[in-house]
Amino acid sequence: MKILVVGGGGREHAIIKKLKENPAVEQIFALPGNGGMAKDATCVNIGAKDIPAIVEFAMKEQVDYAVVAPDDPLVLGCVDALEEKGIPCFGPRANAAIIEGSKVFSKNLMKKYGIPTAAYEVFSDMDAALAYLETAPIPTVIKADGLALGKGVIIAQTRDEAKDAVRSMMADKVFGASGDNVVIEEFLTGPEVSVLAFTDGESLVPMVSSMDHKRAGDNDTGLNTGGMGTVAPNPYYTDTIAWVCMEKIFMPTVRAMNAEGRTFKGCLYFGLMLTPDGPKVIEYNCRFGDPETQVVLPLLKTDLLTVMQAVTAGKLKDVDVKFKDQHACCVIMASKGYPSSYEKGFPMDIPESISKNVYVAGAAVKDGVLVTNGGRVLGATAVADSLEAAIADAYAMVKTIHFDNAYYRNDIGKKALQAGRN
Ligand code: AMP
Ligand code: GLY
Repeated sequence: MKILVVGGGGREHAIIKKLKENPAVEQIFALPGNGGMAKDATCVNIGAKDIPAIVEFAMKEQVDYAVVAPDDPLVLGCVDALEEKGIPCFGPRANAAIIEGSKVFSKNLMKKYGIPTAAYEVFSDMDAALAYLETAPIPTVIKADGLALGKGVIIAQTRDEAKDAVRSMMADKVFGASGDNVVIEEFLTGPEVSVLAFTDGESLVPMVSSMDHKRAGDNDTGLNTGGMGTVAPNPYYTDTIAWVCMEKIFMPTVRAMNAEGRTFKGCLYFGLMLTPDGPKVIEYNCRFGDPETQVVLPLLKTDLLTVMQAVTAGKLKDVDVKFKDQHACCVIMASKGYPSSYEKGFPMDIPESISKNVYVAGAAVKDGVLVTNGGRVLGATAVADSLEAAIADAYAMVKTIHFDNAYYRNDIGKKALQAGRN
């Protein structure tokens, strides 16, 4: 089989490595991929948003199956375009990917179908938003409606900060048209959990839960990033909470999308907050999370391609999706300065003995040498029988990887360990 994977980060590398475990897979094309995954896939220099070029390539190579991993191409209709040409895909069509593409859509969906989430107001008029902020409870949360590279959420501790956020989104258009509408919502508290789930629009199978570490610095300080590390499972996510989520959040979301004529097929990501009033949805993503995928897929026992194809065929209920009863930890090595400005182009040294468990996100080959080429450079994942061992092993791997200006958090998994002990 020839498989095409759209995307080029650590998440895609983890998907590719897992797909390769199936002996029927002969070749995987990554569009665009990155220099660090060249051993696992044929990287083709076509951007993940260039849908006409992706379709043309898929036709030319006669690929048997496509996996569209990032949010942008999903929201732009990459799956629709490939399916039109008869190429089976993993990922939602554009009319379902809107669950991530528009926060106004997802908030209204949750309100309409009684799915627990933070109370909110939507504004298309800046003056109305500013007037509302005169009396809104503080802290408050301002969200740009559309995609904003994971940066469209501002937690405002003061009224002035909240107003500045609204002005920068609605007047200065720092996120472009994504800020035409904003959601202003209630500030929630509690541990956060990421749950990725396979769904074919009928059944839904949650994957093992995970915990992201979004801030750049140790002890959750510094700027928000795309994610500096993950552990799985998330100790806060007990069996009882999992049951409540299935009943009150996961299946109601699948049914709500069906009722709206927007059946969701693919990986649905639930960003949850376990509040004193029960679990609530902070965000939906229409795709695998990054770097959640780098801890979740290594724990998947069942063949990934089999599960994905069952999702595409609407036969997920026929597959017994199993996870290992182990723990995983992924430590992201980034370029110093990320998520602000950083230098790139430094030669990278990843020992062969651990490369199987390294997911490369931002690298390029220059004059035959692998060099850093992004903010998040790679993720090192360890799987072990205890969380403690997985953390220790992941950091031991990190110590053997070298490139100039490398930066990583030293406390990935620490909060999870403490929670597990309570
Ligand atoms: P997002 O970009 O939607 O993942 O949001 C980024 C982060 O903002 C989340 O992981 C939460 O930590 C935080 N956040 C988002 N919405 C809320 C909320 N209503 N209350 C508290 N924190 C929030
Ligand atoms: N790690 C969060 C995300 O993928 O959006």
